[in-house]
Amino acid sequence: MAKRLNPAIFNDWVYEGISDYSHRIEVYYGGAGSGKSVGGTQKAYLKALKMVRKVLVIRKIQRTIKDSIWSLFISHLHASGLYNACRVNKSDYEIELPNGSVFLFKGLDDPEKIKSIDGITDIVIEEATELTEDDFTQLNLRLRAASPCLQIYLMFNPISKKNWVYDYFFVRSLPVNVKVVKTTYNDNKFLSDEYRQELERLKDRNPAYYRIYALGEFATLDKLVFPVYKTKIVSEEDVQGLKRWIGLDFGYINDPSAIVWGYIDTANKRIYVTGEYVRRGMKNNEIADVMRDLGLSKDKSYGDSAERKSIDEIRDKGINIEPTEKGKDSVIHGIQWIQQYELIVDERCFKVIEELENYTWKKDKKTGEYVNEPVDTFNHTIDAIRYGLNKYIKGTKTPTVIKKPHGL
Ligand SMILES: Nc1ncnc2c1ncn2[C@@H]1O[C@H](COP(=O)(O)OP(=O)(O)OP(=O)(O)O)[C@@H](O)[C@H]1O
Ligand SMILES: [Mg+2]
Repeated sequence: MAKRLNPAIFNDWVYEGISDYSHRIEVYYGGAGSGKSVGGTQKAYLKALKMVRKVLVIRKIQRTIKDSIWSLFISHLHASGLYNACRVNKSDYEIELPNGSVFLFKGLDDPEKIKSIDGITDIVIEEATELTEDDFTQLNLRLRAASPCLQIYLMFNPISKKNWVYDYFFVRSLPVNVKVVKTTYNDNKFLSDEYRQELERLKDRNPAYYRIYALGEFATLDKLVFPVYKTKIVSEEDVQGLKRWIGLDFGYINDPSAIVWGYIDTANKRIYVTGEYVRRGMKNNEIADVMRDLGLSKDKSYGDSAERKSIDEIRDKGINIEPTEKGKDSVIHGIQWIQQYELIVDERCFKVIEELENYTWKKDKKTGEYVNEPVDTFNHTIDAIRYGLNKYIKGTKTPTVIKKPHGL
């Protein structure tokens, strides 16, 4: 079959391995826009056309499936002219090919859903860094059908050495039968010049992002601002009777807007982060709509005081939002205040976790010493958390004994 494929529709690195099913696990990682998602799904699709497969297509959060991995598979059906010959169930996110192969698209928000599915022959995991190691272990255990060529494909960016994928695939001796393929934007012949330049511009604008998203490298771990936090699935009982907080950080083109919310337990000094919504390009009326849909319109929320006009516009749309009060040193003060609490993050808040894994202290260029100021990146959701908790933070004093960042 591979002989009849048209190589022009693949990136070279995808075409090379398109019929190789000899590894149980294939890891596709690297910079942004290198063609990992398109390539990985092309391979899975062709495999399922060739032999009857039952493919589980996974992302951590169900609601992120439609516009990412689902639409990719749909575009493959169209490109191959088979869309009309397939059964496409848009409400349950299932695709059945003419030969009986099926693709089941599932979020891991509710892992129980997966447990009832039998006979899985392949698993495609989009943005695998969003999963926990435990999620992956459970999936790996489910791949035990009596079929040949059982495989898992994982796609991800090397977002942090703190993430489980780093330890699992790059530090521990590799589990047997794993193929690791690293690519960057230079490996994607279909990429527009505009996107290429956008990535190259990161070099000056944001070196930390450049390492990860242009070079596709796991960045060195500097001193994290929040080295200690717990991740778990936060249950309703955990937060029963606690006060809710909601914070909003504005972005638009280059940076995303971030809405983050959770609960605070002042008696036991615990902060729970239970939800996040992070997206680029949102206008104020969309932010208001999203907040209303998420049930965040009634409780008081706080937004960045630098954006008073935006806050007024959002309030005019019926959201109970106010600007934070920002004083001198409000960033460091807020950080130190949060550090005195136990931070518990719902494991589904993967953007918050990605930032916690990357939010580091700045170093003095000359001396190489850490200074009492965080690097101004990977801080959208973290700023939103600070804003959301502003009411509790303000009025407290920065402990003067803390001259250096906590924990250094
Ligand atoms: N085989 C292909 N045919 C046509 N276009 C392609 C192909 N592969 C990649 N592209 C183009 O390159 C873009 C980036 O590819 P893709 O989304 O797969 O990258 P990625 O490595 O998954 O990026 P990220 O790290 O951001 O998830 C796609 O949106 C598409 O426009
Ligand atoms: Mg991708």
